[in-house]
Amino acid sequence: MILVTGGAGYIGAHTNKALNQAGYETVVVDNLSKGYENFVKWGHFENYDFGSKDLREVFEKYDIDGVLHFGAFSSVAESVELPQKYFKNNYKNTINLLQIMREFGVNKFILSSTAAVYGNPEKVPITEDQELKPINPYGHSKFITEKALEREAAKGDFNYVALRYFNAAGCDFDCEIGELHEPETHLIPLVLDAAIGRRDSISIFGTDYNTPDGTCVRDYIHVNDLAKAHIDAYEYLCNENESNVFNLGNGKGFSVKEIIDMVKKVTGKEFAVKLDERREGDPDILIADATKIKDKLGWTPQYDLETIVESAWNWHKKIYQD
Ligand code: UFG
Repeated sequence: MILVTGGAGYIGAHTNKALNQAGYETVVVDNLSKGYENFVKWGHFENYDFGSKDLREVFEKYDIDGVLHFGAFSSVAESVELPQKYFKNNYKNTINLLQIMREFGVNKFILSSTAAVYGNPEKVPITEDQELKPINPYGHSKFITEKALEREAAKGDFNYVALRYFNAAGCDFDCEIGELHEPETHLIPLVLDAAIGRRDSISIFGTDYNTPDGTCVRDYIHVNDLAKAHIDAYEYLCNENESNVFNLGNGKGFSVKEIIDMVKKVTGKEFAVKLDERREGDPDILIADATKIKDKLGWTPQYDLETIVESAWNWHKKIYQD
């Protein structure tokens, strides 16, 4: 049985579906602070906080072989406002989970890490061996969690994979689950809100970045590609007695302006675009070099930006139009 923390959230729910489709049994642990119970359509569900001592009850009830740890707060902007909230949940509460895993002899762990650990990278595409210099509390909270895992693995009888996601986007092709944050801060769903008429306009945060068109460049990766990488990483942990860290991205960068153009193309809608101030904590460019995971696990992303936006648009229409 695989324990999936945060499995009622966006990336956790998509991975939980993929795991069950691949024949794994799962138990989702989520306190529903950000997630949705109706996103847990596969496997078991237990409403617990992964930072609570009571989490032991889940380990007593189920025969857990490994943990996929999605549970975390993930808004860069909010983390700048509320750093303690991020260090407590993303770091301290993960230590609680690790302690309980040790108690029950569970020794396989996959961390949802992030490109935000790199800060403003020295060179792009970014390889895993670049220096980690996070520029916001969210990135920093994941950076120290990675360090805790490194130390834990060094102690022995414990292996982990840290997956550094670039910009997760897109939705389940069956529209059974999708991206739904409250409040929404991510670019693609916000631009889709403008396309569907839920907001009057979309604001571009900063037009003077050191990029070709002055707007931030990101590497958008379909959530189902991320889900598949977790399965590959879990199989790696089952077969090899080692730990590792991998970037997860498409290796292609798109600017905020290019995303807006793609949304206009896919939806056929016009809407107002405002040029706004920079948002604090945003690096200029984040593009993954995902060669390492391709070489080591044979993982290759399947979906391009147009497919990402199309799948997100279908989900958007389902929840806001039907
Ligand atoms: N943006 C706008 N207008 C908006 C919203 C966003 O211009 O209304 C811009 C942002 O400033 C940024 C880009 O669009 O330049 C992407 O922003 P998102 O909020 O969608 O994503 P981030 O790159 O800030 O962060 C995401 C995840 C993080 C993760 C990071 C890694 O939310 O958890 O990707 O690349 F760390």
